[in-house]
Amino acid sequence: MPSFLDLHTTSPADLRAMIDNARAMKEARAGLPRGTPDADQPLAGRMVALIFEKPSTRTRVSFDVGVRQMGGQTMVLSGKEMQLGHGETIADTARVLSRYVDLIMIRTFEEDTLKEMSDYASVPVINGLTNRTHPCQIMADIMTYEEHRGPIKGKKVVWAGDGNNVCASFLHAAGQFGFDFTFTGPQPLDPEEVWVKFAREKGSAVTIERDPFKAVEGADLIVTDTWVSMHDPESAKERRHNQLRPYQVTEELMKRANPGALFMHCLPAHRNDEVTSEVMDGPASVIFDEAENRLHAQKAVMRWCLGL
Ligand code: CP
Ligand code: NVA
Repeated sequence: MPSFLDLHTTSPADLRAMIDNARAMKEARAGLPRGTPDADQPLAGRMVALIFEKPSTRTRVSFDVGVRQMGGQTMVLSGKEMQLGHGETIADTARVLSRYVDLIMIRTFEEDTLKEMSDYASVPVINGLTNRTHPCQIMADIMTYEEHRGPIKGKKVVWAGDGNNVCASFLHAAGQFGFDFTFTGPQPLDPEEVWVKFAREKGSAVTIERDPFKAVEGADLIVTDTWVSMHDPESAKERRHNQLRPYQVTEELMKRANPGALFMHCLPAHRNDEVTSEVMDGPASVIFDEAENRLHAQKAVMRWCLGL
């Protein structure tokens, strides 16, 4: 059974099938109270472990609600409270958990932790964010774009700010879903070259443009994220703010994009740092749809992992 570790390691056909399935499942539940069980109960009798080594609101709640809607049960585990946080190896933890649960979702720091978990687990493992990538978020973002504007293939997505883990998964998606991607931010915070190369090799036109106003010309979607991620040292904050201030997403910047361009942010946001409140609450913003779609997209991811 496959793990869902990253977008660049999952086939475009499977990613597309998951997005389509997510949309169908969302439509089937339209208007129902959140706690209403899905009619088919695909996860009946299944147990899912949700491990968090970093804070979370959306990932934690959306996975938990998603499993319950599909008839399964969850346990939410804090890395610190597990033996994992007190010297037990990841490999041993993976082998033990595999005797109890059917699926493991983990949010962690190092990508190697995720990889080791999936190497030693005999059940599928889902990446709920590492320092390097955040694939579940971008599945929800692709779903959200397409709900509002139709196919994302051939569109231009602009990332403004830090070339971080969420940006990395957007680059993977550019390659896998066939859209163009422009990064605008200061050179020290460029996305990793290996991800730029991946997207380009898959046929995506990837551009690095230091001038944010030039970058957004012709954009169909503008995306940003926090300037200081959970794994970044607190000491980086002041320097980051100085480097990134010119890349704040403002109404003025949005106006230079294509008419009808959307704004996305994975949240949590720092209002009036990476984006103004005016943009967050304005007509182009689909930030809360993105948050909702975490639920639907991850339900499709879990079904794919379990072959259901
Ligand atoms: N976007 C996202 O992953 O949010 P949380 O950190 O709240 O899970
Ligand atoms: N880049 C952010 C995303 C949070 C969902 C972080 O890693 O903290």
